[in-house]
Amino acid sequence: MEAGRTGRSPGAAAVTVAALAALALLAGGCTPAAGGVRGTPGASGVQDPYFPRLGNGGYDVTHYALDLAFDPAAGRLDGTARITARATQDLSAFNLDLAGLTVAEATVDGAPASANRAGDELTLRPRDELRRGDEFTVTVGYSGVPEPLTDPDGSTEGWMNTTDGAVAVGEPAGSMTWFPGNHHPSDKASYEIALTAPTRLSALSNGVKVSADPVSGDRTRTVWRQTEPMASYLATVMIGRYETTTGTALGDISVVTAVDPSLSAATAALRAELPALLADQRERYGPYPFGAAGAVVTADGLLGYALETQTRPVFPASSFDRPTLVHELAHQWFGNSVTPESWQDIWLNEGFATYAEWLYAEDHDGVPARSSFEDAFAQDANWAFPPADPPAAENLFGPPVYQRGAMVLHKVRETVGDKVFDEILQGWPTKYRHANASTEDFTAYVESVAGEGLKEELAGLWKVWLYGDGKPAEP
Ligand code: ARG
Ligand code: ZN
Repeated sequence: MEAGRTGRSPGAAAVTVAALAALALLAGGCTPAAGGVRGTPGASGVQDPYFPRLGNGGYDVTHYALDLAFDPAAGRLDGTARITARATQDLSAFNLDLAGLTVAEATVDGAPASANRAGDELTLRPRDELRRGDEFTVTVGYSGVPEPLTDPDGSTEGWMNTTDGAVAVGEPAGSMTWFPGNHHPSDKASYEIALTAPTRLSALSNGVKVSADPVSGDRTRTVWRQTEPMASYLATVMIGRYETTTGTALGDISVVTAVDPSLSAATAALRAELPALLADQRERYGPYPFGAAGAVVTADGLLGYALETQTRPVFPASSFDRPTLVHELAHQWFGNSVTPESWQDIWLNEGFATYAEWLYAEDHDGVPARSSFEDAFAQDANWAFPPADPPAAENLFGPPVYQRGAMVLHKVRETVGDKVFDEILQGWPTKYRHANASTEDFTAYVESVAGEGLKEELAGLWKVWLYGDGKPAEP
């Protein structure tokens, strides 16, 4: 989706494309098409400062239709990805991100395309070049035993096989372990995810369940539809033994929760609070951005963290508590609807979700946000680096991103006052609903709402709290 894109480093991307074009010329790879118009290969990454090869240039995905058959006994996935995209340049070839697995066949607009693998890049060369503005359809047939990735920070993400099923989570890069795509958050798309698995197991994904039909061999094909745009890192799959509960929230939002059966009783009370927590957040952040909601609680030992997977956040049992639930639900507005333009903007996700915990404590537990702020201020770990400039990929989920990110928001609140701050809490997710936003978009937005009179004070706030090294003298 183009909406809200700001193009962080157009210069770098252009250089890459030009360099690739020059290489293609040297290699004598393509001959000019009739009329002298010729496409060039799309870039193999969008030059994200932390993951330069993540995502791909030259096209925008609008829709993923994933048809995934999973055999838990063998841990094997057989997939077909049908991707609808629009070319943003004349293309002779383009890339998809895919880690592991074996590609058996690929087509572009129904015609066989040549496929090459190198590292996590799958390069497809269509029979006919694509013209800028063309809508095209790619199918990729693939299979294998998926393997998770180890993040730069040491945690595990991607497709994880369990004793009787699988769980897939993808922040920041794990989704490329189970489907080929444009795996950078700047390219959001709608999804339909079909899961074929043994009938005795539950098969869950994002959004609304549209059908569940028996297929041969005691298997069921369950189809989930995520209509609103989603960044690929928020796509999820859970296949296994779960106790599922369905209901509604906020009037007509369909709620599906699923828990490992051994956790049924222990999690019942908090699961039942989900509609009330969403109603509470809607008061503060405006309309809930999706047509579906829910939560999944897995047995401990698999996931090292909770994740805000779109419409259906997932929790290891030991982190299914109220503050974490509040945090992951707040991400539905902050991160899932308003998505970072680049991984450098991750504090916009984690700072807001942490501040949502502070607001919850202020509203319900008699703990003013100011005292949460002072607690965070006192902790050395929060001063390791500025939230808007993590030093490396391994720091993207470090304490300053969460806690100092929330501190920035609290300083904004103290600068503009509660009334304008409440306006920002609704206005920011409204302005960038289902789009991408950067740190600069945020500071510009706050300055525009606060007015000229506060511009200088806000500039000082950004300099010290958002971008500055080290701890200020005063909280
Ligand atoms: N976004 C998750 C949260 O709600 C954390 C994801 C952690 N991922 C990682 N690779 N460390 O806080
Ligand atoms: Zn978070």
